[in-house]
Amino acid sequence: MTEPSYKPSRVVVVGTGAVGTTTAYTLLLRHRMAELVLIDVNHKKALGEALDMNHGLPFAAGVKLWAGGYEDCADADIIIVTAGASQKPGETRIDLLNRNVSIFKEIIQNITKYNQNGILLIATNPVDILSYVSWKISGWDHHRVIGSGTLLDSARFRYLIGSHKDINPRSIHGHIIGEHGDSELPVWSLANIAGTPIDFDDDERKEIFENTKNAAYEIIEAKGSTSYAIALALDRIVAAILRNESAVLSVSTLLQNTNGMSDVYLGVPSIVDRTGVRQILDLPLNPEEQSLFELSANKLKTEINKLNL
Ligand code: NAI
Ligand code: LAC
Repeated sequence: MTEPSYKPSRVVVVGTGAVGTTTAYTLLLRHRMAELVLIDVNHKKALGEALDMNHGLPFAAGVKLWAGGYEDCADADIIIVTAGASQKPGETRIDLLNRNVSIFKEIIQNITKYNQNGILLIATNPVDILSYVSWKISGWDHHRVIGSGTLLDSARFRYLIGSHKDINPRSIHGHIIGEHGDSELPVWSLANIAGTPIDFDDDERKEIFENTKNAAYEIIEAKGSTSYAIALALDRIVAAILRNESAVLSVSTLLQNTNGMSDVYLGVPSIVDRTGVRQILDLPLNPEEQSLFELSANKLKTEINKLNL
């Protein structure tokens, strides 16, 4: 077969479990890229997932899709990492840290053996710390090492506000920032609908935020894991990158004197384009939000310091 004169867009998904396969399927349905590669330590699983998706192509996209190896990262624009242990009921995301750091050292080294100029998009939990670890291990410019961050949490926040107001969640503007986890915080002071502040009383605000923060625990208790909303969030980030959208998304990125915090990855509204994270938006947080943001940052810095990277 003759080589194409152009470089087809390629996305690699490492980890073909619930998150990885749902993400791959979402990317396929939305025609995001020309080539999609599935990698898993359980290669037979990746093969089965690829076979099953390929059989649907007559009804879907013109995507070239296969189960591959790390050598297929060579020409990838984006490598999404969803590999690793997931929470059991009652476990926090931080509880996964030691198990997943150990596999990340191998995964990231395998990726960078073949690719030095792509974009790493991390989903595995604890996603902020593993994004920081991926940045350190890869040695890549931090703009090109991104975590899904609090984009999923912000979507849950917007959905719950929209449900209370009977308004489409896409018309609700609000961000959850900080750790994708128990120390995340709602930026109520800047949440709005068409620029109009959202008028909830304290009880309503408490209920909406608690349901946002605890959503994963509830879903994991009910069905074992979460996958659909994270897949759509990862698809959103892939689209913003491949289409050079300059979209503002609360992805996890390296803070550099962001609201006074540095040298930690946290979910903050950032401009995402073909280069990765182009810029973080400095938020005018109120004093309570600033204090919670610093608590979240310092919680993760403490965990990172224990790793002796
Ligand atoms: P899963 O157990 O269904 O899939 C994990 C996959 O990783 C398995 O197929 C396994 O074979 C593979 N794997 C394990 N070690 C590997 C290695 N060294 N190299 C390549 N593949 C390897 O788990 P699930 O539900 O897909 O979750 C995956 C991760 O995503 C978990 O850490 C989970 O907490 C996280 N997650 C993150 C979210 C976020 O908002 N950032 C949301 C939902 C899940
Ligand atoms: C979530 C967990 C699994 O769905 O990170 O938010």
